[in-house]
Amino acid sequence: MSNYHIKHLEEYYQVYRKSIREPENFWEEVAEEHFVWRKKWDNVLSWDFTKPEVKWFEGAKLNITENCIDRHLATRGDKTAILFEPNNPDEPSEHITYSQLHKRVNQFANVLKAHGIQKGDRVCIYVPMIPELAISLLACARIGAIHSVVFAGFSSTAVATRINDSDCKMVITADGSYRGAKSIDLKGIVDEALEECPGVKTVLVAKRTNSEVHMKEGRDLWLQPLLDAASTECKAEIMDAEDPLFILYTSGSTGKPKGMVHTTAGYMVYTAYTFKNAFQYRENDVYWCTADIGWITGHSYIVYGPLANGATSVMFEGVPSYPDFGRFWQIVDKHNVTQFYTAPTAIRALAKQGVELVEKYDLSSLKVLGSVGEPINEEAWHWYNDVVGKNKSPIIDSWWQTETGGIMITPIPYVTPTKPTYATLPFIGIQPALMDEAGNELKGNQIEGRLCIKFPWPSIARTIWGNHERYRETYFSTYENKYFTGDGALRDEVGYYRITGRVDDVIIVSGHNLGTAPIEDAINEHPAVAESAIVGFPHDIKGSALYGYVTLKDTGESRNHDNLRKEINQLISDRIGPIAKLDKIQFTNGLPKTRSGKIMRRILRKIASKDTSNLGDTSTLLNPEVVQDIMDEAL
Ligand code: WTA
Repeated sequence: MSNYHIKHLEEYYQVYRKSIREPENFWEEVAEEHFVWRKKWDNVLSWDFTKPEVKWFEGAKLNITENCIDRHLATRGDKTAILFEPNNPDEPSEHITYSQLHKRVNQFANVLKAHGIQKGDRVCIYVPMIPELAISLLACARIGAIHSVVFAGFSSTAVATRINDSDCKMVITADGSYRGAKSIDLKGIVDEALEECPGVKTVLVAKRTNSEVHMKEGRDLWLQPLLDAASTECKAEIMDAEDPLFILYTSGSTGKPKGMVHTTAGYMVYTAYTFKNAFQYRENDVYWCTADIGWITGHSYIVYGPLANGATSVMFEGVPSYPDFGRFWQIVDKHNVTQFYTAPTAIRALAKQGVELVEKYDLSSLKVLGSVGEPINEEAWHWYNDVVGKNKSPIIDSWWQTETGGIMITPIPYVTPTKPTYATLPFIGIQPALMDEAGNELKGNQIEGRLCIKFPWPSIARTIWGNHERYRETYFSTYENKYFTGDGALRDEVGYYRITGRVDDVIIVSGHNLGTAPIEDAINEHPAVAESAIVGFPHDIKGSALYGYVTLKDTGESRNHDNLRKEINQLISDRIGPIAKLDKIQFTNGLPKTRSGKIMRRILRKIASKDTSNLGDTSTLLNPEVVQDIMDEAL
């Protein structure tokens, strides 16, 4: 039996039990057999959730880029590591082999060093989805600099806040970026941000759009000539297991964004191990995750996890709708993609388009379909399963967070039988617990509660940059000796988990806890509905009542709204019970979303509660314009 590659359900249970009973032995074996170390650890794990402090593989020395690149050179030098697919389908794709990646990362690392970056320095990376983005992360890791990637869709204020919070010395960016038919002036955004960032001494600029940009004398440098002049050899900095690898910001329910800090060895081991198993990755597969490297999904499952396994990882610059909504399927066909990992919001948008755009392409290479980022509603799950997967590619609905570094609850494809909308079983080494509000652990099955994790796993974030107390307070103070995820979940009769949504979205109606996700699922089953969001609003008798925002599909025909309201409530009544019926249903042209595609319920909640005097910051929304429309039409 191999602990590294799980192939049967029985094996899953066996390995899972071992990982729980003897976590140190288990992870030590994985670490020992599948990675290269400059020095082995003195101690596998020490932890204390009250401080909180977690250390994995303490005393070990390594460099993650030697694991992701150098060790593959002998056997996979000519294999494609990164397969870059540009925004414009008429532009050629680029195959970057492991040996080319090695040279390019080394050159980039030498440029960083030549411009004063040393081990431990923070470097802000604000680069679109072009090869330089992946290469810049690895170049930082090569020399022990801490990368802080900021999604290249954030505004200048958001960039400045993040640069200053972690005192970045350098910014890596591009002249501009392409997103579908649009191009964005990235350098202009950086220039604006840097007016507020006196600590930034150097800006390296990659060329992508060839648009005219202002280069500030003494600060801004074109990247390419520096790379061309740099040596293709760069010794890897020897890092301690617990040295920070990167900072990645995630928004909290209040306050400024939290800079989650991930460290080197545990993150490497866990992302590599989860990648291998959750995607059942095999040597000649072509794996594609559609996320942006600006988010944790891209860090862990475009860059580090796949490369640590010597995989071919597709990196797509564009958007699902350009030049038309068939673009994803055209790419799957073109590159014979075997594993495809995307978000429910994309699936819903594509499902809205009808099946012709899918059926036009040959998707027979697909073996595994992944979903991540939010609960996947039942209708989207079935569309993904039937139309894209033709009922033969298992869907892995993978639950995890920026804070967890890697996938935590997921089916293992071809191992765990799937169930629509269920993330199913905890991954190897993960010990979930469901808690009630009084802080008791709910034992047994068929139970719903707040999702915590009882035991450390190798890729748990170690702190919030510059604010350990906020880290303790946010994740370890709600329940004693447990990591609190902020999500609610239910466990069914066989022990499968279903994530019901953020607990801040749980609405208590007449004493009944209702999760928003199942109600939205029910609504979305209505053939006329494209998307919906439920929030609570104050109600004299029930405490809270339900307010639904519903976006209809654009079918060109007009519908009677009163009839639709009745039909929607009937569906909810049928699926969940009359208790979950909506008191108000407002039809909208769109829902306010964050740039990562999550619905901004905070705003919807305020509108539903008629509390619109202070909607908070809406500038980071993808579509701020819908907010006014929704307010104007509010019931
Ligand atoms: C939600 C993304 C249901 C959840 C990797 C979590 C999910 C938050 C799922 C983290 C899923 C993520 N089913 N909900 N499969 N995956 N979520 O930090 O609420 O961007 O807490 O990490 O997304 O989002 P983040």
